[in-house]
Amino acid sequence: MSERVLVRVERRGPVAVLMIDNPPVNAMGVAVRLALKGALDAAMADPAVDAVVLTGSGKHFSAGADIREFGAAPTDGPTLVGIINEIETMPKPVIAAIHGTATGGALELALACAHRIATEDAELGLPEVTLGFVPGAGGTQRLPRLMGVPRALDLILTGRRVSGAEAQASGLVDETAPGAQLLDAAAALAVRVSGAPVRRTCDLPIPAVPADVFARAEADLAKTARGRVAPAAALQCVRRATEIAFAEGLKEERAAFLALVRGPESTALRHVFFAEREAQKVPDLGDASSVPSIRKVGVVGFGTMGAGIAIAFAAAGHPVAVADETPEAVERGLGRVRSTFEEARQKGRISEAECAARIARVTGGTDYAAFVDADLVVEAAFEEMDIKHAVFAKLEAVCRPDAILATNTSSLDVNVIAAATKNPGRVLGLHFFSPANIMKLVEVVRPQQVTPEVLAACLDVVKRIGKIGVVVGVCDGFVGNRMLFAYRRQADFLLEEGALPQQVDRALREFGMAMGPFQTGDLAGLDISWRIRKRLAATRPKELRYSPIADRLCEMGRLGQKTGAGWYRYEKGSRTPVPDPEVDALVMSVSAELGFTRREISDAEIVERCMGALVNEGALILEEGLAARASDVDVIWVHGYGFPRHRGGPMHWADHAGLTRLLDTVDAMHESQGPLVRPSPLLRRLALEGGRFGDLGGARGTETKS
Ligand code: COA
Repeated sequence: MSERVLVRVERRGPVAVLMIDNPPVNAMGVAVRLALKGALDAAMADPAVDAVVLTGSGKHFSAGADIREFGAAPTDGPTLVGIINEIETMPKPVIAAIHGTATGGALELALACAHRIATEDAELGLPEVTLGFVPGAGGTQRLPRLMGVPRALDLILTGRRVSGAEAQASGLVDETAPGAQLLDAAAALAVRVSGAPVRRTCDLPIPAVPADVFARAEADLAKTARGRVAPAAALQCVRRATEIAFAEGLKEERAAFLALVRGPESTALRHVFFAEREAQKVPDLGDASSVPSIRKVGVVGFGTMGAGIAIAFAAAGHPVAVADETPEAVERGLGRVRSTFEEARQKGRISEAECAARIARVTGGTDYAAFVDADLVVEAAFEEMDIKHAVFAKLEAVCRPDAILATNTSSLDVNVIAAATKNPGRVLGLHFFSPANIMKLVEVVRPQQVTPEVLAACLDVVKRIGKIGVVVGVCDGFVGNRMLFAYRRQADFLLEEGALPQQVDRALREFGMAMGPFQTGDLAGLDISWRIRKRLAATRPKELRYSPIADRLCEMGRLGQKTGAGWYRYEKGSRTPVPDPEVDALVMSVSAELGFTRREISDAEIVERCMGALVNEGALILEEGLAARASDVDVIWVHGYGFPRHRGGPMHWADHAGLTRLLDTVDAMHESQGPLVRPSPLLRRLALEGGRFGDLGGARGTETKS
């Protein structure tokens, strides 16, 4: 068999076109680098070649370095940084012709070329900090020379991608061209510039730097990159570009890259990158194309959740019909849709025409007849089983027999909802998180009878609306909320034993959680879980420890931000939580009532207990087969619950923090709290054998091997 050609070479007169051909994204692993270096050297040596155009085959220029190599043992062969530096000093001009994506090492390659030409819709970026390291092949030194420090910092510190059009406006690319003409235009540019002295990015001066730009960037990072190391290191590299010679800057950048790329932050962030993609691979998934493709979407219920779901689908181009019981509810819902899109327009995120088109895609009414031609209907009605049964019966009466029917329930049994329908094969759960137009996670809940094709079609549409779907089994709370209950329970118990809400929240925020559990409760509203607790009160075993503090707060009318008071109090119109002596007094009186002698509780204990309970529940979930892999659990917690991405998700974090110590914490909680904390046999086995959740199968290519 002939060897695969990873860089194809074509001649257009005196121009050699080098096309990287490594599907799906032209990642530049060692084999590509070898081929690229060979093709470049040959073009330089060929007297008939005056200039080179460098491009990618398929949908993308290139997604950059092969991220899997960062966790693996070092390879022999040319490095990307070596090739990039050589390109800049080559005697003939190299032109980058960019379409699709050019990220990381691929953009760094283009930055070292003499000229860049891109399609208007190409996406260019340096996402390295989102993977826990700094650009390591000249990105922090060349980008400021082409587009100035403020714009370069914006891209490098956020990982944001800019379009070809925006890149041209800021000097990052020289020209844009329509996709069909990109190579012709690049070849023409190559001919125009050949013979003249080759333009070298490294020789360009850095445009004048505004006085406070680094101080402002530092202040921003203090807010947006809490607990992270890569963004500050990247900032320092750019700052040094303005202070020292180019060659020295390259050396410092490389040293920073090497120091970070195998460190814990990068290991965790690379883990999440692959985990997000792995979650889409469900072993026994059917063929989505064998069910009608999902275009028109129906939504039942126009409350906050229903409106958020409608907005998410409409923003991605789907026509959406929403039904609620009263014209007033419909009007309120439509108002929410309008104001969300209007706000996006005012902030310049979408054009006026796009705003109008999105608003027009959402229709509302009280009649389910609007669902007659829907391909998918998502029910987001009140959380009562009788109501769900009634809604599904009505849906079955009007919807096409092949329409998919989904429930957004977060607390009811989807098997029971499905079993009551005539065709349970088309019924499943799509558990969106609030606000549904913003939160990326959707738990795709798989009841026993749903067909693999329906499941596949739903995973596919979830991806198309820009969200991350993770398939989970049916259990109380599914994966995310079931783990949340375990975590929250420890937070409540810690209050009874000596902590206060502000201390628990602070300790967990310092760990990296986006918010503490009590703050989150206030934001979400305390009444929903209160209602669920009241429903379950009759069946709750009375011998088990139960914290009454949350119920007492609700009885006092403290339902969270919406009533101006919950675990904290809130000044009128403010969302800033203010610790409240009334809550402290309540906490202390409950401690006394329950016979606890309050003690000093350390932040470390708060983190150990809350995280111990969280990971233990995740392990139980894995044993029960409710999530396919530990990395799926990580994706759920990173995208649905504000778990710090740079710690990789709870299961990845546990692997690295040490399972033995975690097991000790879980055993101690079991000792004092009984069956409320049931130590996971899987956790015990892994801890005793020195195993890891990550070894059970899941996201690949992320662990650093020596
Ligand atoms: N290195 C190695 N593998 C990569 C990769 C990279 N730089 N970029 C993407 N892949 C892999 C994915 O893991 C996935 O593999 P799989 O099919 O085995 O799961 C496959 O390529 C397709 O990627 P995916 O993201 O699922 O496809 P998409 O069409 O949704 O998006 C891109 C394509 C290029 C937009 C997206 O992959 C991307 O943004 N990659 C960013 C890469 C990056 O951060 N580069 C900087 C490296 S320093």
